[in-house]
Amino acid sequence: MRGPTDPWAILASMPKLEPVEITAGKLHLRPWIPADIDEIHAACQDPDIQRWTRMPTPYMQVDATSYVTEFAPRQWEQGHGAPFAVLDATSGSVLASVALMRVTDDGLAAVGYWCAPGARGQGVVTQAVGVVGRWAFHTLGIERLEWTSGVGNWASRRVAEKNGFTIEGTLRRGLVLHGTRLDCWIGSLLSDD
Ligand SMILES: CC(C)(COP(=O)(O)OP(=O)(O)OC[C@H]1O[C@@H](n2cnc3c(N)ncnc32)[C@H](O)[C@@H]1OP(=O)(O)O)[C@@H](O)C(=O)NCCC(=O)NCCS
Repeated sequence: MRGPTDPWAILASMPKLEPVEITAGKLHLRPWIPADIDEIHAACQDPDIQRWTRMPTPYMQVDATSYVTEFAPRQWEQGHGAPFAVLDATSGSVLASVALMRVTDDGLAAVGYWCAPGARGQGVVTQAVGVVGRWAFHTLGIERLEWTSGVGNWASRRVAEKNGFTIEGTLRRGLVLHGTRLDCWIGSLLSDD
């Protein structure tokens, strides 16, 4: 039976997150819109995104559509997450995705990301994670921002490290990717780090 200490009861009572847009240097972050669907679909054909994230494989147009029109808006609405499109502020093209996930009302959240293959290695996701982290700490009152990735995903780990995350260790079989339980790294950034 679900009582007051039931974690699902806590999740169900999360306040809505007010969607925001943030411009930071050459990047513009905003909630996803239907015009982004083709670009998400194209980016998510990338083998590294397929390998290291929990995206459906194969990744179809319908997956991008349901993400943009159903899952992402519901995250904001239910207060469980803040999925941001990361755009080139000048051209408006989609460069990356940075999402706040698993937000709780006692100050925890996780961050997840991918970058379109053509935009990699230019610091896009490192900068965007910094922006979303600061917003989470200052506006939402998050105290611990958590990062996890499959062991061996060095590019993801570098993004976390460059943002000041402390790598806390390895969770044995802590992550399921495409039906297989894998070891994963875990790290965190605290609001007062
Ligand atoms: C991880 C990812 C989001 C990084 O995006 P990005 O915008 O290219 O990241 P940045 O340019 O900000 O930084 C990448 C860093 O990783 C480093 N890097 C990239 N590939 C690497 C590799 N194979 N081994 C070690 N470091 C690597 C880069 O050199 C850079 O570090 P540096 O600035 O110290 O040189 C992108 O590679 C990606 O989309 N990967 C597939 C999806 C994924 O893994 N998502 C994370 C799931 S936990």
